[in-house]
Amino acid sequence: MRSIPEPLDILILAAGLGTRMRSSVAKVLHKLDGRPLIAHVCGTAAALTPRRVYVVVGHQAAAVEQAVRAVLGERAAVTFITQAEQRGTGDAVMAARETVAGEATTDGASTLLVLSGDVPLMRADTLAALVHQHRTHRGRGAACTLMSVRLDDPTGYGRIVRDEENRFQRIIEQKDATTEERAINEINAGIYCFDVAKLFPALERVVPVNAQGEYYLTDAPGILRADGEDVSVFLHADAREVSGINTRVELADFERTMRLRTLRRLMLDSGVTIIDPAQTYVDSAAQIGRDTVLHPNTHIEGRTTIGENCEILPGARIVNSVIGNEVTIKDHSIVTDSEIADRCSIGPFAHLRMNARMEEQAVIGNFVEMKKSRLGRKSKAMHLTYLGDAEIGERTNIGAGTITCNYDGRHKHPTIIESDVKIGSDTMLVAPVRVGARSITAAGSVVTKDVAPDTLVAGVPAKEKKRLDTESRVDAPSENPSDTATTTADEHTTEADETPTLVG
Ligand code: UD1
Ligand code: CA
Repeated sequence: MRSIPEPLDILILAAGLGTRMRSSVAKVLHKLDGRPLIAHVCGTAAALTPRRVYVVVGHQAAAVEQAVRAVLGERAAVTFITQAEQRGTGDAVMAARETVAGEATTDGASTLLVLSGDVPLMRADTLAALVHQHRTHRGRGAACTLMSVRLDDPTGYGRIVRDEENRFQRIIEQKDATTEERAINEINAGIYCFDVAKLFPALERVVPVNAQGEYYLTDAPGILRADGEDVSVFLHADAREVSGINTRVELADFERTMRLRTLRRLMLDSGVTIIDPAQTYVDSAAQIGRDTVLHPNTHIEGRTTIGENCEILPGARIVNSVIGNEVTIKDHSIVTDSEIADRCSIGPFAHLRMNARMEEQAVIGNFVEMKKSRLGRKSKAMHLTYLGDAEIGERTNIGAGTITCNYDGRHKHPTIIESDVKIGSDTMLVAPVRVGARSITAAGSVVTKDVAPDTLVAGVPAKEKKRLDTESRVDAPSENPSDTATTTADEHTTEADETPTLVG
């Protein structure tokens, strides 16, 4: 074993289009568990704390680079290498020659771990074991160590050809293999460690004389072996882990595997009730608390956290959001990039997005959209409402059909509704506008100017009809404050001393 551990660099191959996907989107950008394939590989790479990560890009390079930076941006030093024309995996590594070798010579020997962008389930522990074997092989380290696995059906993969003494000889690709060679069930996983000083001279000798007319990286180990160099094989037991994704059928298969793994973890470790795991979709990054119930056809995506004792009803979709405890999200509601405090209720058919925030015990009812808004503690918006760029205080009731008119065609403007306000049905709040505490808007009001606290306004445009004397006003909440207000401006103004009520 080398006394001083030499630096580890990682090279990820991600330039190919992935013809077998039959897609105009580069294969490594296709999503598994809500993240691009390349993001999975980058996450594993980062866990090995490499000195540097090289990513060979080609097809849709800008999008691939963005996906890589999203994962590695702060976790590892990344260098992108462009492979202008996809002439094979050997050519892809060759494209990185100057950059990689230049880096290596400054501090002597180094290990290059080569990964494929389309092998997403690889675990960091396994790679660490591969690197260890590479560096300790025969007490001095190997020129190349490649990972292999035995498959019941090796179709499509490169096969590992061994000599009479069972030592590695070369890799033969499926398309170039004889019937006899195709019967070999030990396959090349496409994951290798190379001694950088020996890799490039060998790659230089690779020629594109094969069924695909490509420069195969898989020829390099055979060349090294023929030169008498040590090539070791790391035979791994878990076939699933090293499987690559080449078709959409395989992608869907992986998705199902990952999904069931996540759901099992949630049920066994977190104590989540999942009524029908075959119809429940939870990304692995999500966290869900004890005794929360997920009904069929629920989707929990991205970095979502859901607390304890929540109930997520059929058709709900929750994306990158934080949900407290004892929250009910009713059928067919969508919550994205939002924050919901304890004991809130949402839906059915509600849409919360772009930093919608609900404080404790707030209620959003059917056909309500809430964007970039805060709904204070115990406040309610029960029916057919749009709340955009709004700050709403506590115990305020938003009547049915209320709209914050936040957009003047050019800019978005804020609406502020303070605490204990009653917004009558079908009120239009023309932003920027503020409604003071304890005020009331009559049904059908179009509020174009700020409303002072303790004031009743009505009409189009809304005018002050009355100051609400705090002594005499009816403070007791109506039987069902969530019901729609049916008072009209006329009713309010007929009798001067009549306190407006919000009757169902
Ligand atoms: C490769 C191996 C095969 C192995 C299999 C394991 C070769 C010749 N064959 O086959 O032995 O069993 O992986 O999964 O290497 N890429 C580039 N530039 C190119 C071509 C490919 O960057 O010019 C990238 C692809 O984007 C992909 C990776 O290299 O991420 C592997 O390429 P792919 O075409 O999928 O190779 P396989 O046919 O699967
Ligand atoms: Ca592949």
